Amino acid sequence: MSGIVIVGAQWGDEGKGKATDLLGNKIDLVAKFNGGNNAGHTVVVNNETYALHLLPSGILTPSVIPVIANGVVIDVPVLFKELDALKIRGIDISRLLVSSGAHVITKYHRALDSAMENDPAKKKIGTTGRGIGPTYADKISRSGIRIADLFNENVLCEKIDSALDSKNRILTRYERPMLSRDEVIEEFTPYLERLKPLVEDTPLVLNQALDSGKNVLFEGGQATMLDVDFGTYPFVTSSNATAGGACTGTGVSPTRIDKVVGVIKAYTTRVGEGPFPTEISAGDKIANYLLKTGGEFGVTTGRARRCGWYDAVVAKYSSLINNFSDLVLTKLDILTGLDVIKVCIAYDVNGKTHKNMPSNSADFAVAKPIYKEFPGWSEDISSAKHFQDLPKNAQNYITALEELSGSRISVIGVGADRDAIIERHKLL
Ligand code: GDP
Ligand code: IMO
Ligand code: MG
Repeated sequence: MSGIVIVGAQWGDEGKGKATDLLGNKIDLVAKFNGGNNAGHTVVVNNETYALHLLPSGILTPSVIPVIANGVVIDVPVLFKELDALKIRGIDISRLLVSSGAHVITKYHRALDSAMENDPAKKKIGTTGRGIGPTYADKISRSGIRIADLFNENVLCEKIDSALDSKNRILTRYERPMLSRDEVIEEFTPYLERLKPLVEDTPLVLNQALDSGKNVLFEGGQATMLDVDFGTYPFVTSSNATAGGACTGTGVSPTRIDKVVGVIKAYTTRVGEGPFPTEISAGDKIANYLLKTGGEFGVTTGRARRCGWYDAVVAKYSSLINNFSDLVLTKLDILTGLDVIKVCIAYDVNGKTHKNMPSNSADFAVAKPIYKEFPGWSEDISSAKHFQDLPKNAQNYITALEELSGSRISVIGVGADRDAIIERHKLL
């Protein structure tokens, strides 16, 4: 048996979906442990492109049981829309399991997310607008609705009434329409009959699977730098997207995790607000190149991603927080054609050099990158299968990233397709 965690090492969109899909045939269950439909994973299988949000990427592999675990927040209509879209394309969706303890995103959570984001008196986070933050806030303040509550009318009505009592006061202050209990409930009712058979005691299912020698993959949404504890707070999401979140988000002990795989892009992107030291100004030639060649547009919101150079300080910090067994380096092919490739090796913070992530967010906000330059390559690498097939300059780039992060790069992505990889070490 093996428990293997996959998490993002930067600010999201590193290619976690593809990395999860890669392991598909060796895995028995894939459990998504945090976040919700703020995530957007594009997986390309045999030239077919699938965009997944709430569903674990393992759903694309017929032999895998996909699990939405307790750490996830679920927008019920969105879940079924996503399932139905896959079903039309011939994917078997009947295997999905949903945790009875996962929290439910409601209409008032989405309304509050939107109201707070548009409040001129508040710092804009640039959220995905899916109600993620307000739903996790209710979870922590012990007033949330869990999946099991949807099947107990008395409990559900009581919880919604109690929530609306305070939420409507806030919505009124934001000059937003008040919501009624019926408006909230009518969003779920058409789906309850279909949802019921999917609901499971997922901590039990996952632990029993590990007991019986099965391989379980724990799929993280978002990424280390968006983690509510370890990311660039307050410009973060509202869950633990780091390796530790795999345990609290599923009910599986740390002693059952054998590997932690970090997914990292060969450059950096970020969506939404917040500090990003290696960002290249939008409109700059290189930023445009990465944006267009890399197709750096959000799968969830369609927003153009902010693009920048690889940040080895972030990679080293991510390695520290997650203690990666392996890294999957994605999108190396996108750098092909650049004369010079820059890597941030340290920050200048008010005249002082920092080789490690500043612990104070005010310092990180003013950190200026100190770069080391690497010569690029122009050869097409998209069909490379072995490290030795790569141009010497690409090999040198990878070796340098490996040394700087302190984690070994086991898989290198050279194209979007499932098979476009160089596998240097087996992940499992
Ligand atoms: P996730 O949220 O971490 O799963 O990543 P996204 O799906 O949001 O963004 C990653 C994008 O890069 C997707 O469109 C993938 O198909 C694509 N991708 C992943 N690995 C590679 C790679 O090695 N090369 C190229 N060209 N595209 C890749
Ligand atoms: P995947 O799983 C990139 C960002 C948002 C915003 C912040 C908070 O595809 O990597 P939220 O709606 O979660 O409250 O927004 O987090 N964000 C992501 N950025 N990839 C994601 O997911 C993201 N999920 C949230 O842009 O800055
Ligand atoms: Mg994404």
